[in-house]
Amino acid sequence: MRDLAHSRAFYVETLGMLVSNEDPDTLYLRGVEEAAHHSLVLKRSVQTGCERLGFRVFTEEDLDLLSAHFVERGLPLSWVEAPFQSRTLHVTDEIGVPLEFCASMKVMERAINRFDQHTGACPLRLDHMQVLTPAVERACAIYGKMGFRTSEYIADEGTDALRAVFMQRKGNPHDIVFMRNDGPRLHHVAFTCPEAHHLLHLCDLLAAAGFGRSVEWGPGRHFGPGYARFVYLRDPDGHRVEFFNNHYQTIDIEDEPLRWVPPSKGEASRWGRLSPPSWREEATAFV
Ligand SMILES: [Fe+2]
Repeated sequence: MRDLAHSRAFYVETLGMLVSNEDPDTLYLRGVEEAAHHSLVLKRSVQTGCERLGFRVFTEEDLDLLSAHFVERGLPLSWVEAPFQSRTLHVTDEIGVPLEFCASMKVMERAINRFDQHTGACPLRLDHMQVLTPAVERACAIYGKMGFRTSEYIADEGTDALRAVFMQRKGNPHDIVFMRNDGPRLHHVAFTCPEAHHLLHLCDLLAAAGFGRSVEWGPGRHFGPGYARFVYLRDPDGHRVEFFNNHYQTIDIEDEPLRWVPPSKGEASRWGRLSPPSWREEATAFV
């Protein structure tokens, strides 16, 4: 983030993220439903980019199993000290995405009943991340081996070639999405909010705060994977953040992944605009 004060005005004062900790160079943020210390960390830097994507595992033993999994694949890894987290594993996966894993974090007050702290779009929790990569099928295989399950996918017409794959661990439609494009690059991070009206209200708040141009696509509804109502924003550094409302449950193991045609072919079943070119092509580089 080139100007952390400006980022704070966007993420905290306008979107409504809670601050768990901050110093002149770092902001640790969480949603009102999250007891984990942070789900988004913003750092001051001259060059903007994404350092890494983070996932939680259940136990320290799981972390050791994961470490062995990466060693077996010949991936260089390191153990690091990360503030407010238990021992933390850093690794870059086979398609070049820098990852971070830990088993526990400092616990904060869950502010779900602290209505006096619910502002902006009332972000509840980090829900998912989307990555662009030319290697969607490889990503699907790699994350499948790590334990992610496919809920939905988009395939090219007439073949099974994956254009996008939606994968989950926590029983929602997706925790991580891979979409075909140059990469790896971070396409967006997504926070869920309680009601659909928060999406409209957020746009008004952004405009009032001078961030009106940050609204890139929507509010709208995905007539395809995930089905949610959404709005996509570009933060002051151009990183994309999605706010959305309503996902569905994917815990049934016998439920087969759902296949979709590319969005441009699904016109008959949708309303509103297709994604703008910026949404389809622009993304954040990994540092
Ligand atoms: Fe999303």
